[in-house]
Amino acid sequence: MGTHDNEILKAESLYHVYESNAEDGNVVALRGIHVTVYDGEAVAVIGPSGSGKSTLLKSLGGLMKPSAGKVSLAGKGLTRMTGHELVEHRQNTVSFIFQDSNLLPHLNALDNVAQPLRHQGVLPGEARAKAQILLDRLGMGDRARGMPEELSGGEQQRVAIARALITKPKLILADEPTGALDPITSREVLDLFKTLHKQEDVAFFLVTHNREVAAFCERSLELRDGRFVAQHGTDVDIGDLSGSRELIIDDTGTVTLPPDILTQIGGPGRFEIPDIVRDSINLERVSEERIDIDGKSEMKLAATCPACKYEYGDSVEQRCPECGSSRPMVQA
Ligand SMILES: Nc1ncnc2c1ncn2[C@@H]1O[C@H](COP(=O)(O)OP(=O)(O)OP(=O)(O)O)[C@@H](O)[C@H]1O
Ligand SMILES: [Mg+2]
Repeated sequence: MGTHDNEILKAESLYHVYESNAEDGNVVALRGIHVTVYDGEAVAVIGPSGSGKSTLLKSLGGLMKPSAGKVSLAGKGLTRMTGHELVEHRQNTVSFIFQDSNLLPHLNALDNVAQPLRHQGVLPGEARAKAQILLDRLGMGDRARGMPEELSGGEQQRVAIARALITKPKLILADEPTGALDPITSREVLDLFKTLHKQEDVAFFLVTHNREVAAFCERSLELRDGRFVAQHGTDVDIGDLSGSRELIIDDTGTVTLPPDILTQIGGPGRFEIPDIVRDSINLERVSEERIDIDGKSEMKLAATCPACKYEYGDSVEQRCPECGSSRPMVQA
């Protein structure tokens, strides 16, 4: 995506295991996720139930610490931040819209929306006036004094969306933002997202099953069983997606390989295409010499699995026999 330069969000080698004492044991929810979102870019994540979408979103937003891997937001790594630094950095960069709206039950709609501005030190009158404008735009102007328990699911979701937008974040992380909305309200929310995206260069990273929402994004990434298995460019019909597609070349010529395939071909490097034939490419590594990214030394296969700590020993296996995670490359 050569037109954007700054990375608003970057995740490298994210793994997450939900520990459990139950019979069926631990759940490996993320298995080596790499993703970069540039300033002002909109990216959709699609994937079946249980594929790890919500876990990914929470890890990316610093709401949950992944078992392994690195996340940075607006150029700052979250891993080493203290609790206080993390909260402040989040408030300045990112807003969340969850599957269930998570409003504060003791505040009415207007005060729920105004609250993030109050946290930033904005005076009550000004914060409420801005909140009212956003609620009006979302068709909720006349419900501003309603308490969350008096609002329908879709109304609560609109209040949550207004609350996420009020601080003018650079990035919005949203988990099925239109899931609880009727088609008309859903389209209004989408129009608002489009305006923010086009006019104010807000970046979006959102989980969605809604075609129109996915179509508004420049790219969609398909998550299955904790890994991205495919990437799809603009104007892709999400009804066409299938699990067998593992590599997509977009219309700028950019090829994206899932990390496990990258590992299987021996890691990054220079490749030649000996014969060019329509509908097929055959890559051959130019030499043993690997690309030296940022002057780092050579990479080798990790000795232990970052997800379940399995010891690989002398084996050259590319995938963990215990939990199925892809085996990452580490610095030699
Ligand atoms: N708190 C938890 N403890 C244990 N396992 C969990 C927990 N939360 C999620 N999981 C498991 O991790 C996996 C990924 O869950 P996640 O909620 O990220 O999926 P999802 O893609 O968001 O699904 P959906 O589309 O249904 O919302 C699932 O197998 C789920 O059962
Ligand atoms: Mg979910």
